[in-house]
Amino acid sequence: MKILLLNGPNLNLLGTRETTIYGATSLGDIEARVRNKALAVGCEVEFFQSNHEGELIEKVQAASRQEIDVIIINPGGYTHTSVALRDALLAVGIPFIEVHLSRVAAREGFRQVNYFSDIASGTISGLGPLGYELALEAARTLYGKKAQ
Ligand code: DQA
Repeated sequence: MKILLLNGPNLNLLGTRETTIYGATSLGDIEARVRNKALAVGCEVEFFQSNHEGELIEKVQAASRQEIDVIIINPGGYTHTSVALRDALLAVGIPFIEVHLSRVAAREGFRQVNYFSDIASGTISGLGPLGYELALEAARTLYGKKAQ
């Protein structure tokens, strides 16, 4: 099973960025945790982070050529703005799981606009880095080769 884990803008700053909201774990540490978990269960995971909308879109488009089974994505601030990234996910038709470290529903009004939740297989929000590991577990359960 092949999974693509995408992180959007400013998530490269995890560990130092607004730690009271996003925690002290770096993106590298989160990726290492997911990599270990994936290795243990025989999943292939590719990681990609970008601060650029177009790069994220190109990665989503490439995912269908790479035969990616599931995308796990934290679109960061693009969650609340990007019709184009939404359209890319719809265009490739690969199931995706949306992850947010913070509990977005409890935050500012402008964050209540979300271009992804209604088309995601599911959304995990507010559980910090654990959310990514749970998303991997969900991807395997829902779309793994043995899943019915
Ligand atoms: C975030 C929530 C977004 O509102 C914010 O813009 C982010 C991170 C999260 O993981 O909690 O960059 O996606």
